[in-house]
Amino acid sequence: MSFCKHLGECGSCTLNLSYNEQINLKLSFIKDKFRDLYSGDFEFFTSKTKGYRIRAEFGIFHEKNDLFYTMNGLNTRYLKINECPKVDIKISNLMPNLLNALKGDERLKFKAFGTEFIATNHDILVVLLYHRDIYEIKENLENLAKNLGINLIARSRGKKLIFGSEILNESFFIKGREFKYTFESGAFIQPNKSVNEKMISWVLDNIKSPKDLLEMYCGHGNFTIPLSFKFNKVLANEISKNAIKNAKINALQNNALNLDFLRISSEELMSAFNGAKFNRLNDIDLNEFDFSHILVDPPRAGLDGSVINFIKNYENIIYISCNPLTLHENLKEICKTHKILNFAIFDQFVNTNHIECGVILRRENDI
Ligand SMILES: C[S@@+](CC[C@H](N)C(=O)[O-])C[C@H]1O[C@@H](n2cnc3c(N)ncnc32)[C@H](O)[C@@H]1O
Repeated sequence: MSFCKHLGECGSCTLNLSYNEQINLKLSFIKDKFRDLYSGDFEFFTSKTKGYRIRAEFGIFHEKNDLFYTMNGLNTRYLKINECPKVDIKISNLMPNLLNALKGDERLKFKAFGTEFIATNHDILVVLLYHRDIYEIKENLENLAKNLGINLIARSRGKKLIFGSEILNESFFIKGREFKYTFESGAFIQPNKSVNEKMISWVLDNIKSPKDLLEMYCGHGNFTIPLSFKFNKVLANEISKNAIKNAKINALQNNALNLDFLRISSEELMSAFNGAKFNRLNDIDLNEFDFSHILVDPPRAGLDGSVINFIKNYENIIYISCNPLTLHENLKEICKTHKILNFAIFDQFVNTNHIECGVILRRENDI
């Protein structure tokens, strides 16, 4: 029996293979892709094959009087779906109830066109998207949130209503210790929570002789907070204002007091290290840090040339990547000065071709 009845038609999960076959496929793709740079062993961190995604988006499709969730199809723009086994159980339990509630209220149903779900171990949040004025259905939305016991955000062009809270609270357990995180609905989050916990533990296990850490693309502190307990001081930057706001909250709620978070792009930070002045850096003396480790977790586009040139000056680099192609391009340059010591594959995206990697590098002269 296949993992999902929509396999073969759905554009989201496209690997119609057993889990062992998927592992072998991903492993051999990565081995082959990085053959020119690394000949050592690869660690593979597996995932649950169902209920692993804590964030999911669906379209809402109207047909006669009925409503359906949709995904992009492999061969069609909209594929009607009535199950999505990859999503967290809280989401899969809620999905039919939400759809029935919309079907049962003409005002709520009218011009609803999309939805997003985020589930943490403390909260569940639904975003409903409308092509109509949501202020006209404020009361209906409020009742929907109350009846389903959810946090709800409704959006239509230029308008947003929040019922409950748009702040989500999450807890991770890393090496037996609880870490608490707060973030907002629009934030970047690692979609596969249990694999994310494995990634953080793996990074922790690979820190040798720590002094200070520079972390770029830190989000709301996913790696930063647990890592901070290994280092003397941590400097972490991120472009998103909201993410930095929550990173600071997360540092406090986990009693991590050796952190400086900067709301600045990595490219600007590189200029700052070269002497450019930014008001946002007024309280920070960049010369005070003695970075033994640099951690980067960039978006799919990978690292800017200025970032690569900068990080090559440091002894230890940890590169987390959701795109093996840009990772390979960037490593070709970094491996001119550094050697790959350890390479891991984190199977965040089961049943898809997407692959998350982690790479530990050490400067050649320091080996
Ligand atoms: C793959 S996410 C990683 C976030 C975080 N490390 C985590 O594990 O949740 C990449 C992050 O880089 C941020 N970002 C994108 N472009 C950036 C840039 N030019 N400079 C700094 N941060 C950037 C995004 O806002 C996002 O939070």
